[in-house]
Amino acid sequence: MPLPPAGAAIFQGAARILSGLLEARTGQILSEGRAWRMETALRPVLRAHGLQDIDDLAAMLLRKRDPRLDEDVVNALLNNESSFFRDLQIFDMIHRQILPRVQEHRQDRTLRIWSAGCSTGQEAYSLAIRLRNDTARWQGWRIEILATDISTAAIEQARAGIFSQMDVQRGLAVGDLIKWFEPHGEDWRASPDLRRMIDFRHDNLFDPRAPSGEYDLLLCRNVLLYFTPERRGDVLRLLARHSHAGSVLLLGAGETVIGQGDDFQSHPEFRGGYARKALTPDCAGGPMRRTA
Ligand SMILES: C[S@@+](CC[C@H](N)C(=O)[O-])C[C@H]1O[C@@H](n2cnc3c(N)ncnc32)[C@H](O)[C@@H]1O
Repeated sequence: MPLPPAGAAIFQGAARILSGLLEARTGQILSEGRAWRMETALRPVLRAHGLQDIDDLAAMLLRKRDPRLDEDVVNALLNNESSFFRDLQIFDMIHRQILPRVQEHRQDRTLRIWSAGCSTGQEAYSLAIRLRNDTARWQGWRIEILATDISTAAIEQARAGIFSQMDVQRGLAVGDLIKWFEPHGEDWRASPDLRRMIDFRHDNLFDPRAPSGEYDLLLCRNVLLYFTPERRGDVLRLLARHSHAGSVLLLGAGETVIGQGDDFQSHPEFRGGYARKALTPDCAGGPMRRTA
């Protein structure tokens, strides 16, 4: 019998059914640390579906009477933690080093970015804000930002661009708040201009439909850590298929490609970034190629 992945909790009864559903749908493993929050996370789902407790919920899932229930459970169990300009130095590096390099080499004046596992959109909005604050530099450029996530609830919020006071206080400068957001009741809403810059799509990294062609910058931050090593390898292969010789991949602070397959290696120029392995000889200053 295969051993459970490191950090995975050994579940019994209802918890086993719920964590099994999450893993089957998203590839995510519930660690001990997150398992204890299961009941709390599911409370709104229990209430919405008129269920007593997680045993009741598990029994209902097994009866498969309500297709919306699976989706609600998965949405509730996913960790959608995010914030604007999360790890500020990464955004500074993107702005000061990575994007200027892309600009030097991209002859078709098209910048393509993919935020994979974008949650409620703060990462993509942070990128859009930096680009819009630098309009002169990007004059005449076509900018495409794709942002995908498996959580239907997170994508819905991201697309609406509505954030609470607490959300905007986490990482957003007051100047950017005033310039790019408008009051929306007690919340804030990203301006239509900003929202139009991002294509938010519901998508599964293990059954991807949204990405197309190659991206200059790929962010898959704080997503891989919830997968088994095999699944991480699958995601990195997917990201490699959508990269070219000059692409830069950025992961979360606690994540790495080391030991996760042969697709990427540490970027020779950008600290904490990764470059496609097979194509690295071209990438240090060579012309960028687009093949799709
Ligand atoms: C902790 S959040 C990270 C959000 C953002 N990248 C950041 O760093 O702030 C992880 C996101 O990965 C998404 N996710 C998990 N499994 C996924 C899958 N199989 N396909 C797409 N997204 C997934 C979750 O729904 C969640 O929104």
